[in-house]
Amino acid sequence: MDTGDDLFTRDDPIFANKELLEISHLPGEGRIVGRDDEISALANAVNPAIFGQSPSNVLIYGKTGTGKSLCAKYVSQRLVETAGEEGVNATFAYVDCAQDTTETQAVQTIADGVNDADETGIKVPDKGLSTSTYYKRLWRILDARYDVVLILLDEIDKLDDDDILMQLSRAGEAGKISGCKLGVIGISNKIQYKDRMDERVKSSLCEREFVFPPYDANQLRDIMEARSDAFRDDVLDPSTIPRAAALAAREHGDARKAIDILRYAGEIAQSKGAPKVKEVFVTQARERAETDRFRELIRGSTPHSRYVLQALALLSLSNRRKDGFRTSRVYEIYESICRQEGSDSLSLRRVRDLLKEHAFLDIIEQSKHSGGSAEGSYTKHQLLEDPEVVKEVLTESP
Ligand SMILES: Nc1ncnc2c1ncn2[C@@H]1O[C@H](COP(=O)(O)OP(=O)(O)OP(=O)(O)O)[C@@H](O)[C@H]1O
Ligand SMILES: [Mg+2]
Repeated sequence: MDTGDDLFTRDDPIFANKELLEISHLPGEGRIVGRDDEISALANAVNPAIFGQSPSNVLIYGKTGTGKSLCAKYVSQRLVETAGEEGVNATFAYVDCAQDTTETQAVQTIADGVNDADETGIKVPDKGLSTSTYYKRLWRILDARYDVVLILLDEIDKLDDDDILMQLSRAGEAGKISGCKLGVIGISNKIQYKDRMDERVKSSLCEREFVFPPYDANQLRDIMEARSDAFRDDVLDPSTIPRAAALAAREHGDARKAIDILRYAGEIAQSKGAPKVKEVFVTQARERAETDRFRELIRGSTPHSRYVLQALALLSLSNRRKDGFRTSRVYEIYESICRQEGSDSLSLRRVRDLLKEHAFLDIIEQSKHSGGSAEGSYTKHQLLEDPEVVKEVLTESP
């Protein structure tokens, strides 16, 4: 009989090892699926480092959730181990440029990451030094401790400017470091990022470029299967993973989303007290994953940037079958949203820029059309996200 003190469940009936489905979890050897070609190409580019020579600078592109960060870290880790076996002192430093957006913060993170104050006697305080002092300390640390260092600049498009890329990619030839070789791996999910880059930086940073394609349903299934031991035996319905893979592949080919869907499906089963993770839970989980993903995409965007998207969502919801909406139409709806919100509307030109930004983030797609001599050419805009999701997230209270 229940003694009444079972307020909490002690044994999780669904998950055996939920960490495997956390996004921060780094899958180990054998659990990276479907990226053999990308991994060996990347390894090839940085291979000289294991002999203490300069690795190629690399830029990795690909949409969100295609395994860029994962593969870059994995290859760097393996490189450091292999170099060690060859008697070469190597390491890598990882910078999340979404967090360290300024040149100073990024250099500080690198210098701190590669330093060992006991060994070098060099201090790298969190803040308070000038950018050039941080650089000087970084160069000294590198020369004192390493033969080769790889620097991973993840979400590189979030950097305020290109200055750090210039410094890092030219450190060797500019004589800033003498004993240590440096390689930079830049990672971005913005295909157009390179167009924004300074020509000189482009030529030194983009020695090798790789594009990671979205995963297909089979690959997503394998990725999820490889983590199915996150669940207890026999808890997963056999159709659950294939269904989640099909949904995630159809929309974005995003492994992060696929894994989120699987985790949420398990949580839904848990909250309903269901003994199994059934296929129907996947549909509900997808909605939640989609909402999360979109919320993350527009985090930090300005009110007007949101009104523009809201306008496009409203248009899409009332005209389901249209292949996009002209700028003038989006602008009309945007103006009426501004009136409702009691806010002055921006100029048509600014709204055009905001739409371009959304296209850059892959939230919308733009297409050019020619209306013949009478009309001239015009642009149409279409949401790539589910308009219901967009509307829901944008009307949430902040
Ligand atoms: N081939 C794979 N095998 C196993 N797990 C994978 C694979 N690809 C991605 N994942 C998992 O999916 C999630 C997203 O991958 P990752 O962070 O590498 O994506 P990304 O391309 O860097 O995306 P973003 O551009 O959003 O940063 C991570 O949890 C990662 O462990
Ligand atoms: Mg990443």
